[in-house]
Amino acid sequence: MTTSPKPTRRTALTAAAGLPLSLLAGPPAFARRDDRPKVALIGCGGQGRGDAQNATRFGPVVAVCDVDKDHAAQAAKQFKTDRVYADFRQLLEKEKDVSVVVNATPDHWHTLANIACVRAGKDVYAEKPLTLTIDEGKRLAAEVKKHGRVLQTGSQQRSDGNFRKAVVAVRAGRLGKLSAVTSTLPAGKHGGPFKPSPVPPGLDWDFWQGQAPAAEYVKERCHVDFRFWLEYSGGTLTDWGAHHNDIVLWAVNKPGPVAVEGKRLLDPVPGGYTTPAEYDITFTYADGLRHRCNSTTASSIFGGTQKARTRSETAHGIRFEGADGWLFVTRGKLEASKPEVLADLPDPASAGVYVSDDHMKNFFDCVKTRKAPICDAQTGHRSVSVCHLGGIALRLGRKLAWDPAKEEFVGDKEANGMLAREQRKPWTYDLV
Ligand SMILES: NC(=O)c1ccc[n+]([C@@H]2O[C@H](COP(=O)([O-])OP(=O)(O)OC[C@H]3O[C@@H](n4cnc5c(N)ncnc54)[C@H](O)[C@@H]3O)[C@@H](O)[C@H]2O)c1
Repeated sequence: MTTSPKPTRRTALTAAAGLPLSLLAGPPAFARRDDRPKVALIGCGGQGRGDAQNATRFGPVVAVCDVDKDHAAQAAKQFKTDRVYADFRQLLEKEKDVSVVVNATPDHWHTLANIACVRAGKDVYAEKPLTLTIDEGKRLAAEVKKHGRVLQTGSQQRSDGNFRKAVVAVRAGRLGKLSAVTSTLPAGKHGGPFKPSPVPPGLDWDFWQGQAPAAEYVKERCHVDFRFWLEYSGGTLTDWGAHHNDIVLWAVNKPGPVAVEGKRLLDPVPGGYTTPAEYDITFTYADGLRHRCNSTTASSIFGGTQKARTRSETAHGIRFEGADGWLFVTRGKLEASKPEVLADLPDPASAGVYVSDDHMKNFFDCVKTRKAPICDAQTGHRSVSVCHLGGIALRLGRKLAWDPAKEEFVGDKEANGMLAREQRKPWTYDLV
């Protein structure tokens, strides 16, 4: 005796209606189209793979690219794709169905890859610090606008409720007239000298260096530690400044300072990391407000080789002070001189403050609506410009006057010469 399979609810309904199964209930689940935006990842290090994983809440990651074959292979495995590239220009050329790119290359590659993406019609989740130079930021913001693309800078503290509350409190005058701001950033690595070694198999070192001057391969110049070399980054001043100074600019609601001066507090070790490990910088705004941006000590966060130093250790974060009190905000902490500073804060919109509680979601929402995300290209550019100004002042060791409208130093040819960098051929703006 043969037994027929037990009728399911669908087969029973089909029989009752006299219809083929496919017409009654639409296409089977496996054949349904995924209309979510398709995502590509350029730069498959730790942050890139984390960002791309985060992006999978909104669309599948279908293609990956890295100049290091090992990193590309790890990402290909993680996202179960065989669409793997070593050159992002080829990815952009071939992956026509990709509409969103996560760019988490090292800082010296951000702008060229971002410009290539927006020219190819892609929206970009662009890791911070958005640029290597102020000139790059001006060009990138113009390209994003010209091509009508959505670009979210990965300064995700903007989408954190504590930072937003701090900004609303400052803007709503809860501290009275603001008298001082201090952003304290983690100290950078301070160490060396380092020895060259053979380039690891699978790494295209020349491509990795891109626009930066050619150097022998040194492990400490490459993955992760690139942030402590001036050729590729600005040290913690841009790495963390793109977070904390971004919040300062959001709170004070100004395009930038009008003067900057600062000191490096620790000389680099010859043949070692070149970015400032410890520093103390002061920015002045047009209304006279002073913003001090200093570092913790080099023995802290990045586990530098230094012994504990005499300067007392302070937590990194941002302190706003005014005539009526102070507040301090950092990741996971918001405190004030008295409860009234933070109690019953007004609606952020009334203080002109954009609300986002999820940085990646805000980006994908804007991909759909075509509105500006909370940290768009111009915003990311202005925030990291503050950090670049600090870096230039540290290099020149003198006070500089800045015109935030013209984005130029006032009457200072030498300083203006540092707004852009020479790009090593063929990795110039013309590349993309
Ligand atoms: N938003 C945050 O809180 C946060 C946290 C960590 C890192 N980041 C940022 O993310 C970026 C990456 O940092 P990371 O720590 O993952 O560094 P990483 O060195 O681990 O990763 C960078 C990857 O990019 C690859 N790469 C280099 N040039 C490339 C190119 N031209 N094309 C494709 N791939 C290329 C490298 O081989 C490497 O795999 C940095 O800009 C960093 O500031 C942001």
